[in-house]
Amino acid sequence: MERRDAMKVLAGASLLATGAVAYDEKLIVNKNDYDFKDPKNPTEYELKHTPEISVGSADAAGFSLVEVTVGQKGIIHPSVDNHWVYQVELFAGDKRVGVVDLEPTVSRGYLAARVQLKEVKTLRAIARCNLHGNFSATLTV
Ligand SMILES: [Fe+2]
Repeated sequence: MERRDAMKVLAGASLLATGAVAYDEKLIVNKNDYDFKDPKNPTEYELKHTPEISVGSADAAGFSLVEVTVGQKGIIHPSVDNHWVYQVELFAGDKRVGVVDLEPTVSRGYLAARVQLKEVKTLRAIARCNLHGNFSATLTV
């Protein structure tokens, strides 16, 4: 690893340690919750922003793999300099069980967590797009 690369790793580790994000928070221009026009017939724009929740098998301790990807039916939300999903949250019932902060161009809308689903009836995910607001989806488990 070259010195310059080592410095980048250290800078990234420092950001992780402080919880700070690298992007300019002024780029987040819409924090409104989005209302679907016709939830049964989502548009391509809506599909692009809607989180898709999938539940995989449980591990030996009983925690199931829950994955959230932003975009449905193969329509993936972009991650470019000025337009990206900056956060994905996952709720089991009313309890927040996972959150991920994402950076433009280097990461895109995705979250994975191992969740104990024994008492859980619904999973809800929220995808936060810096330009278009907050899109949520719920899965009954
Ligand atoms: Fe967007």
